Amino acid sequence: MISNEMAQRINTQINREMYSAYFYLGLSAQAETMNLKGVAAWFLAKHGEELAHALKMYRYLIDQDARVQLSEVAAPASVDGGVLPMFERTLEHERGVTATINEMVDFALSAKDHATNIFLQWFVTEQIEEEATVKDIIGRVRLFGDQGQSLLMIDNELAALAKQIGQGAATAA
Ligand SMILES: [Fe+2]
Ligand SMILES: [Fe+2]
Repeated sequence: MISNEMAQRINTQINREMYSAYFYLGLSAQAETMNLKGVAAWFLAKHGEELAHALKMYRYLIDQDARVQLSEVAAPASVDGGVLPMFERTLEHERGVTATINEMVDFALSAKDHATNIFLQWFVTEQIEEEATVKDIIGRVRLFGDQGQSLLMIDNELAALAKQIGQGAATAA
């Protein structure tokens, strides 16, 4: 059993994870229109990961006998200006998510809610990895540029990364 306030915060986070999924689905569609199949596949894989995050929290609430309250998911904004801004916005977005996860941990600790604190640690670790991956991609796009041959190379790299995410999800399931 967890407190109503903790449950409410997790419900809010479910909405954020659903928004993240929606945000990445939008970016995947954008990449499709640019004929960047690898970039599109990567964002689609991220979409799947974010849905899995929302479901993990959903399951936790049910296991803790807390109420699941679903709310409206906002429409994601499109990102103009090419591949680099798409990844810059992604990093900005993930940093925002990291901040909200950390706030939830702070709250769980102050409420001496050990179960939720332990549950959230998985997300703390996940955020480190997500931010690092996006930072790497941005670094490579900045180094090589997001036009012509370099763009093709980045697109191929992201296709391979998307495959790894897919395989990771398959083993985790
Ligand atoms: Fe997430
Ligand atoms: Fe994420």
